[in-house]
Amino acid sequence: MSERKPVSEYAQPHIQTLRAYTPGFQPKESGWIKLNTNENPYPPSPKVEEALKDAVGPSLRLYPDPTSAALREAVARINGVDSSCAFIGNGSDDILNLLTRAFSDSARFAGYTFPSYSLYPVLCGIQNSGIVEIPFGRSMVLPLEPLLDCDARILFFTSPNAPTGVGFSNDDLRTLVAGFDGIVVIDEAYADFAKETAVELLSDFDNLVITRTFSKSYSLAGMRIGYALTHPDVVEVLDKVRDSYNVGRLAQVAGLAAVADQSYLKAIVGKIKQTRDHYVQELRDLGWFVYDSQANLIFAEPKDAKGYSGPEVAQSLFEFLKSEKILVRYFAGHALTDTFLRISVGDDDQMLALSESIQKWLKNE
Ligand SMILES: Cc1ncc(COP(=O)(O)O)c(C=O)c1O
Repeated sequence: MSERKPVSEYAQPHIQTLRAYTPGFQPKESGWIKLNTNENPYPPSPKVEEALKDAVGPSLRLYPDPTSAALREAVARINGVDSSCAFIGNGSDDILNLLTRAFSDSARFAGYTFPSYSLYPVLCGIQNSGIVEIPFGRSMVLPLEPLLDCDARILFFTSPNAPTGVGFSNDDLRTLVAGFDGIVVIDEAYADFAKETAVELLSDFDNLVITRTFSKSYSLAGMRIGYALTHPDVVEVLDKVRDSYNVGRLAQVAGLAAVADQSYLKAIVGKIKQTRDHYVQELRDLGWFVYDSQANLIFAEPKDAKGYSGPEVAQSLFEFLKSEKILVRYFAGHALTDTFLRISVGDDDQMLALSESIQKWLKNE
């Protein structure tokens, strides 16, 4: 056989240089306290397990409903919109990917803020899209003017924001969607933990897409289910670009059972919000700066025993917690994030263990 170049060099040039998304560390062995990927510490509704047990059987030889019609209807119903406005994806990441693919390329730029969900630049990289990054200031106030002025066809805006947890009012979002010449995607992965959702804006704007996930509030990260609420014309575009069977049978069954159990959802979301608010206060009582959070996460700027904060301090606590088998997330390399740690809200035992380890670190400093 003749000499060939390495097979990776047959990939498109922009794919060869692409840096893949780095998910939070998923340890293989047990014994870790995982507060690094904003998963829900509580199990999904027991109704989900029952429904899945019934669904595992001979029908798995058949392809799933290609449009996830029943789940479209269910998510439309709980949000008070028509089912023609709903779309189901293999996680909301799938929908973000489809939106990037459909609405951006090297001439049609995609915009997003920094900080926000670090998947957006990767999706744009895969698509070879032009990008515009709009920085927040430390106040995390919506940078309305630069967003409206940016030269993008599609804008990804995380509300509440990740990793800060900061939420945005519908008054501000209305001005953004009304003034933006293109598609505005409001990524509401954390909306169930927030004070407001942008759903009420849908009836006024055809350029608004709201994305949601079952991974956080519904505790179904392992099933991969997300949805979009938007104008039927955008649903039509998404239907053109998705895989024909983009959501499996079991995922559709699990999603339907989860949506049907709204009282369970309310109970675990209520508990997580209560835990979040308690620990935001506890960390503030240590003298740390902590953003108000409307998500199931806390973005906190640790101070050491001498009262100093900074990237070394944040990294030192990150490493110490890791040595205690507690995983949180550290985002190096940017002044708006590298003095902070992002802590997913866990259950009472996990949060108590975190709190005790922080005290231990402060004593060791
Ligand atoms: C802002 C944001 N959007 C989307 C997702 C991913 O959601 P899914 O699990 O539905 O793909 C995450 C996950 O952490 C997120 O933080």
